[in-house]
Amino acid sequence: MQDQNITKILIPEDEVKAIVKRLGAEITAHYGQLPRELMVIGLLRGSFIFMADLVRKIELPLVVDFMTVSSYGDGTISSGDVKIVMDLDSSVEDRDILLVEDIVDTGRTFSKVIRMMSNRSPRSLKVCTFLNKPEARVADVQIDFCGTDIPNEFVVGYGLDFAQGYRHLPYVGVLDPS
Ligand code: IMP
Ligand code: MG
Repeated sequence: MQDQNITKILIPEDEVKAIVKRLGAEITAHYGQLPRELMVIGLLRGSFIFMADLVRKIELPLVVDFMTVSSYGDGTISSGDVKIVMDLDSSVEDRDILLVEDIVDTGRTFSKVIRMMSNRSPRSLKVCTFLNKPEARVADVQIDFCGTDIPNEFVVGYGLDFAQGYRHLPYVGVLDPS
């Protein structure tokens, strides 16, 4: 089923699955023996579907936590002024942290969150994103595990929203701008 406002399917469901499987294998291979479980931290709400699928492809002992941040700007453009709306339940100090994001666009949000997390003295900090828009980058972000690069278009589905809608689509599609 394709929504009438989706002009193009950019990443069909089977490709989404293949990307997540590959990322899970990369992450599993990267971490050998860890002193404690890997702590996988998802940024809400965009990462919730990706995160749920990804952790099931990581073959390591792990725990999950979530945080919600909001960036204030003129609505569609993120200002880079990131505020924590809901913080983590647990401490990241001395833990091996994997931060999970749905998409890195300008990089403003993720770069701030990465800085906040590294100030909390984790044992290690790696970042994973499902989608990456390199053409839109303004703030520098070192991505350790990247699902796939996409062109500079507004996409929805697989957790990504427009006005909170479309998150449940099992594929990634380009939304009709009109
Ligand atoms: P950034 O700070 O510009 O990197 O933007 C980060 C946030 O903007 C992401 O976590 C998304 O929530 C949102 N975002 C950026 N591009 C898109 C898109 O194409 N579709 C839906 N949300 C997006
Ligand atoms: Mg987001």
